[in-house]
Amino acid sequence: MTTIEQVQTELQGKNPRKVLRHALENYQNVALSFSGAEDVVLIDMALKIRPDIQIFCLDTGRLHPETYQFIEKVRKHYKIEIELLTPDYQSLEALVKQKGLFSFYEDGHKECCGIRKVAPLKRKLAQVDAWITGQRKDQSVDTRDSIPEIQVDPAFSTPEQTLIKFNPLVNQSSKQIWDYIEAFQVPFNELHQQGYISIGCEPCTRAVLPNQHERAGRWWWEDATKKECGLHIAKT
Ligand code: ADX
Ligand code: SF4
Repeated sequence: MTTIEQVQTELQGKNPRKVLRHALENYQNVALSFSGAEDVVLIDMALKIRPDIQIFCLDTGRLHPETYQFIEKVRKHYKIEIELLTPDYQSLEALVKQKGLFSFYEDGHKECCGIRKVAPLKRKLAQVDAWITGQRKDQSVDTRDSIPEIQVDPAFSTPEQTLIKFNPLVNQSSKQIWDYIEAFQVPFNELHQQGYISIGCEPCTRAVLPNQHERAGRWWWEDATKKECGLHIAKT
């Protein structure tokens, strides 16, 4: 039997379409995660291989109005269903009651991200065999430097479920992504025209200055090595 490590050796350095094709042809129950930013290119590429691909978005309730409009635009443009995952209302109500709506500025983003993103993602991933993300190495030298094209998900696999994670854009540069968007006339989030590069939730994302790194605009009050919300880090 071929191991994931062997498949990784085969897929290493391959273009995103080859990695996507492997994911979509070998895993029937696979879902693509869409953040509402430039990872829209994955949707464009995936639909050309498998028009029935499952697509989901973590609706934290705190995305920018432009991002909600963009998600709707993508839904209509491609005539697809996009599953919006909502946080558990009991955990969310308890957090907001106890700590208010902006606790992340005081004690870090982990707790809020845990409720608004990580728990809904965990719920979704328990129902699939594999998932696809838009992570790229060039998004963060601190945290994304060694991501493979395919891996056993180190954060969401359980003793009962080996979850496979695909990162087809891993070796793409931001420029390559934007060249694709331009060449194939892919719709994009309007925030990109307002100085935003990496886009997350509205209170935790800001535009960046020329020559600042894209993740400088995410959780800017925290140190660079902590700029991950738990979707892509191994369990500690
Ligand atoms: S994050 O961990 O810092 O929030 P980032 O914005 O860089 O992630 O996006 C990397 C990839 O994580 C996206 O391409 C997507 O696959 C996934 N992702 C991030 N945010 C979401 C979201 N709100 N909904 C679905 N997937 C997401
Ligand atoms: Fe909460 Fe900010 Fe994380 Fe969004 S990015 S879930 S608002 S801490």
